[in-house]
Amino acid sequence: MKEVPSRKEKYQSPARATLTGILDLFKRSADQVSLEGMPSLEGKKILVTGASSGLGLATSMELARRGAHVIMAVRSGIPEKGELVKRKSGSEKVDMIPLDLANISSLPAFALALKQGFGMPDVIICNAAMVAKQGRPVKEGLDEMFVVNYFAKFLLMNELIKGDPWRQSGTHIPRIIFVASESHRNPEHIDWEGFGTYKPYGIKDSVAMYGYYKLLLLTMANELSRRLNSGPAVRCSVFALCPGPVNSNIAREAPRVFQPLLKLVFGIFFRSPKKACRPVIYLAASGAMEGRTGEYMFLMQRKDMDEKAMDPEKGRRLWQLSEELSINIHMRE
Ligand SMILES: NC(=O)c1ccc[n+]([C@@H]2O[C@H](COP(=O)([O-])OP(=O)(O)OC[C@H]3O[C@@H](n4cnc5c(N)ncnc54)[C@H](OP(=O)(O)O)[C@@H]3O)[C@@H](O)[C@H]2O)c1
Repeated sequence: MKEVPSRKEKYQSPARATLTGILDLFKRSADQVSLEGMPSLEGKKILVTGASSGLGLATSMELARRGAHVIMAVRSGIPEKGELVKRKSGSEKVDMIPLDLANISSLPAFALALKQGFGMPDVIICNAAMVAKQGRPVKEGLDEMFVVNYFAKFLLMNELIKGDPWRQSGTHIPRIIFVASESHRNPEHIDWEGFGTYKPYGIKDSVAMYGYYKLLLLTMANELSRRLNSGPAVRCSVFALCPGPVNSNIAREAPRVFQPLLKLVFGIFFRSPKKACRPVIYLAASGAMEGRTGEYMFLMQRKDMDEKAMDPEKGRRLWQLSEELSINIHMRE
C-alpha cells in the first residue's frame, strides 16, 4: 500500500476536501484583484491543456473572447469542443492539438507539432489533471496520476523550453501558468526515497495523493522559475493558482453511487467554470503581473504557496530526481 505522507487534515479524504472547498468560498478577503481594465489579448498565442472540459474549456472561451489565438491541447473533444469555443466566443482564432499526458512517449512529438504548427505560445496554461479512483500504472510502470498531474508536465516543460525558444519573443515576457490546488499544503514532506516508484492505493487515499502530486507540481514550478530566471531580469514568468472548488468533471471517477450527490453538491456550492477561470485569466493577461514570477493565487487573491514548495533545495532535488527518472525510462525503452 502507498504511504501518503500527510497531516491528515483538510484534504485527506474526498469528503473533507469537498467541505474545505465549500468553506473556502465563504471566506471573504479584502485584497482581491479584479479583471477590470485588463488589456486585450489580441496578438497573443495561448496554449491551454485539458481544454476539453471544466476550467480549461471555460478558460479557452474567455481567452478567445478577449482576442487571443487559443490552442486547445486535448485528449478528447476534437473538433466539437473547438467548434463550441468558436461559437461561444465569436472568434475563429481557435485551434486544437491532441495531447495525452499519460502517454509519456508521445510528449516530444506533441512539443514538436506545437512548435512547427503554431510557433512558441506567448502563454502556456498547464491545466489538465485528474483525480484517479485508485493507483494504476501507465505503460512505463509509473502511477497514472503521478504522470498526468506532475511528471508529464515536467517532461513537457523540458521539451518546450529546449534551445531558448522565446529569444525572439519581442517586448512581452512569456508566461507559464500551472493550475494547482490548495491541497498541496496537506502533505508533510516529499517522499524522496519512494519518488517515481509505483505503489497501489485505493479511493480512500486518492485525494491525498492528488494533493501530494500538486505539491510536486508547485515545487517543480518554483524550480522552473529559478532556472528560467537566473539572470537579473525576469525572462519568463512562472505563475500558479488554485481556482477553488469548480463545478467540473474532476470527480468523474468517484463511485457511481455517489455521483448524484456529488453532482448536487458541486452544482449548488461549487463555482461555475466561467467564474472559476478568473484567476487564470488574470495571471495570463494582467499588466500588473508583467515582469513578475513565482506568484501564486488562490481564487482572486495573491497568496504564498506552502513553504515546502518554495524551498530551492527541495526544488533542485526534485528536478534532479525527475531528470534521472526520465533517463531511466528512456533507457528501458
Ligand atoms: N474542480 C475543482 O474543484 C478543482 C479544485 C482545485 C483545482 N482544480 C484543478 O483545475 C484543473 C482543471 O480541472 P477541472 O476541475 O476542470 O476538471 P475536469 O473537468 O475533469 O477537466 C480536466 C481536464 O484535464 C484533461 N485530462 C485528464 N487527463 C488527461 C490526460 N491524460 N491527458 C490530457 N488531458 C487530460 C481532461 O480531458 P478529458 O476531457 O479528455 O478527460 C479535461 O480536459 C486541474 O488542474 C485540477 O486539478 C480543480
